[in-house]
Parts: sequence; structure tokens; C-alpha cells
Amino acid sequence: MRRLGILFAAMLLMAMTTTGALVVWPIPAETPDIADIGDVQAGAYLARASGCISCHTDFENGGRPLAGGVPFKTPFGTLISPNITTDPEHGIGSWTTADFARAVRQGISPDGHPYYPAFTYPFYGSFTDQQIADLWAAFQTVAPVAEDAPDHDLAFPFNQRWTLKAWRAAFLTEPATDPVEGMNKAWNRGRVLVEGAAHCGACHTERNLAGARMSDRKFMGNPDLPGSDAPPITAEVLENNGWTISNLAYALKTGLTPEGDVFGGSMGEVVNYGTAFLTDADRKAIATYLLMPEAEKFAQR
Ligand code: HEC
Ligand code: HEC
Repeated sequence: MRRLGILFAAMLLMAMTTTGALVVWPIPAETPDIADIGDVQAGAYLARASGCISCHTDFENGGRPLAGGVPFKTPFGTLISPNITTDPEHGIGSWTTADFARAVRQGISPDGHPYYPAFTYPFYGSFTDQQIADLWAAFQTVAPVAEDAPDHDLAFPFNQRWTLKAWRAAFLTEPATDPVEGMNKAWNRGRVLVEGAAHCGACHTERNLAGARMSDRKFMGNPDLPGSDAPPITAEVLENNGWTISNLAYALKTGLTPEGDVFGGSMGEVVNYGTAFLTDADRKAIATYLLMPEAEKFAQR
């Protein structure tokens, strides 16, 4: 409660001092001209790797694919994933490819509103135009669902979308997916997946009072995750716990840990709706990136 109180005060202060400017200032945004070059298979693969399907499908209640309705509890209230099927009214069927690109890479809606970072767009910022076109092509194959997902249930001032402009200014950074010279192909591919699409840090890195990932706690675990805690996945801890590149790659395929346990909680979903669908090479790349500590130090220089 105390933490929430401080947060509330901080947000309110931020809100009071910046209200005028924030409400008026538009967020600068590119409008890419993406030709209709998408590849459905590649898009479906990327959608799995990125968790679009698990976050936007209410599997627990038999929800239809990508129709939304999945609740995400945060310290600020509950966010509900929206319907992103092809329905023109209740989904995103009337969007242009540029609208879609802006939403996924920049977290901005077609009418210019910022999205809450519970939508993991901060990890998708380095998707290429081709990847966006692929995703879009795959989404065109989804059956329309003519039903809105329920509204978010957020307390004031978090229900004021313009406060997110302050959040973006303070915390939004580019994902570190650029290739590192001297590192091998698997490691660099793992970096693209872990730091980008597969957004491992969204759960395994603790967040500050404003809900932003703390860079000095990267992969050190998140005890505040609703449901089950996300344990640390730094190279050191993983190695101490008996993880190797091959048993981690295997766990990302099957959900089975080296001790013969099954991943629980949200990690089970990450595997079942995500990493289980990846190629062996991509799972090995993820494991390689996480388990090479010297490489990570090298990469940070
Ligand atoms: C961790 C859960 C999560 C993941 C992963 C996720 N989303 Fe979302 N998404 C959300 C939530 C929650 C919102 C609502 C954000 C808001 O209202 O500000 C959202 C909003 C959106 C919107 C805006 C829809 C609208 O009606 O304005 C689009 C488009 C979208 N997501 C597409 C995607 C795509 C494409 C992917 C995969 C590349 C993806 N999402 C992955 C949770 C997620
Ligand atoms: C939606 C949140 C979420 C995301 C995203 C996520 N994890 Fe997890 N992860 C968890 C949770 C929760 C656990 C604990 C599972 C349990 O209790 O069985 C976990 C456990 C693990 C473990 C076991 C660690 C140990 O020593 O017990 C590994 C390894 C792991 N995750 C790797 C990853 C990788 C790699 C990614 C990205 C591809 C990832 N996780 C993405 C939530 C997540």
C-alpha cells in the first residue's frame, strides 16, 4: 500500500506539472509505407514467438483466437487485452498497415493515443518493415469476432492515457537487438529473440514504481509478478541451477525442467503458446544468449 501511495503521489505530481504540455503535444510518429509484401507463414511464426496469440486469446474461458479479453493485473488496476481480429468495428479490421506498424513498433493507436506498456510494444520496436508486413498478412487470416473485449479497470490517474506520454518520455527505450560484432550467429539470433520478440525481460526483470523495467536488475527475477514469481535467469543463476544450453532449449520446447518438473504459471503459457512452436535452432539461440555470461559483459561494453 505504501508503495502504491508513493507511486500515486509521484504520478499526480508529474501529472500536475506537465498536464498542459502533455495533453497538447502530439507524440512524434513515423507513418511507414509498407507494401503488401507480407508472408503469412513468417508472420504466424513471429506472432507465436512474440506472444501475440497467448496475450490476446482467452484460452482459459474458451475465447476465440485473438478476440482479447485476457486480464492483466498490475499495481495500477486491471488491463484487458483488446480484440485484434479482422472485425472492422470491434477488432482492427479497418486499420491500415501503417496503423498496425505504429501500434506494434511504437505503441501508438491510430488516433494518436499511447498504449499501456502491458502491451509489450517496447520489445517490438526493432521489427523490420518486412516483419510488420508478415505479421499483418498473418492477422488477415484470423476470423473476425464481432464483440468488444471488456474495458480496462484502472484507478485515477492511471486511467488517463495522456499520463503515458510522461512514461514514454522517461522510460521508453529501443530494444537492444542490434548484432554484436565478434559474437556468433546463434548468440546474435538469441539476442534478437530474447531482447525483442520473445520479451523474456517483461516478466524476469523487476519493475520500478512506475512499472518500468529496472536496467540494473535485468533478468534478476520479478517477485511482484501476479500469479507465480518469475525467478532470476541471469547466466550465473541458471548455471548454478543446473541449466545448460541443451536442457534449456529442451525446456523451451517441452516445458520440462532438468529436475523433471513442468513449468508452471505464466511460463507454462510462454512455452505452450510460444516457444514450443519455434525451430530447434531458435530455441538453442535463446539458450545460448542467456547462458554466455562473458559474452553478455562483452556485449554491454
Ligand atoms: C503481455 C501481453 C501482450 C502481448 C505479448 C501482446 N499484446 Fe497486444 N495488447 C495487450 C494489451 C494489454 C493491450 C491494450 C493496451 C492499451 O489499451 O493501452 C494490447 C493492445 C494491442 C493493440 C491495440 C488494439 C486496439 O484496439 O487499439 C494491438 C494492435 C496489439 N495489441 C497487437 C499485438 C501484436 C501484433 C502482438 C505481438 C507482436 C501483441 N499485441 C502482443 C497485451 C499484449
Ligand atoms: C509472462 C511472463 C514470462 C515470460 C514472458 C517469460 N517467463 Fe520465464 N518464467 C516465468 C515464471 C512465472 C516462471 C516460474 C515458473 C514456475 O514457477 O514453474 C519462469 C521460469 C523460467 C525459467 C526457470 C528458471 C529456474 O531456474 O527455475 C527459465 C529458464 C525461464 N523462465 C526462461 C525464460 C525465457 C528464456 C523467456 C523468454 C523466451 C521467458 N522465460 C519468458 C514467467 C515468464
